[in-house]
Amino acid sequence: MALIEWKSEFSLGVPLVDNEHREMIDLVNQLHQKVKSQEQDAGIVDFLEDLYACAAKHFAHEELMMQSRRYSAFEHHQADHQRLLNELTSMMFEVQDGMLNNIEAMTERLYDWFCIHFKTHDAPLHRLVHSFIKL
Ligand SMILES: [Fe+2]
Ligand SMILES: [Fe+2]
Repeated sequence: MALIEWKSEFSLGVPLVDNEHREMIDLVNQLHQKVKSQEQDAGIVDFLEDLYACAAKHFAHEELMMQSRRYSAFEHHQADHQRLLNELTSMMFEVQDGMLNNIEAMTERLYDWFCIHFKTHDAPLHRLVHSFIKL
């Protein structure tokens, strides 16, 4: 079973954003499967790199959207993006150095981050952007 099941509450009604969110969730799920099947750590680092690249691309997209609209919560939202990117970087180093004891807990931290970020940061942003699109 996937760690994160796609929920209707994740859907923001903006296809490009929803597709990017699904892509990141798919990667977290695949990572979770890898950990469950106890594959080698080297494969996990590659996965974390893919997730980092995918997240960085999506975050840049959202941040451009926020800047162009002078979004009031831009700095707060951007700081949360940066927190995840920093955490992914730390995870990569820890896995590479054999310092991460509980990789399953790592995938659960990623799960928490995505669920909370989607609800608290992305939903208000994309509701606003979507209402602009409709005007
Ligand atoms: Fe997002
Ligand atoms: Fe975001």
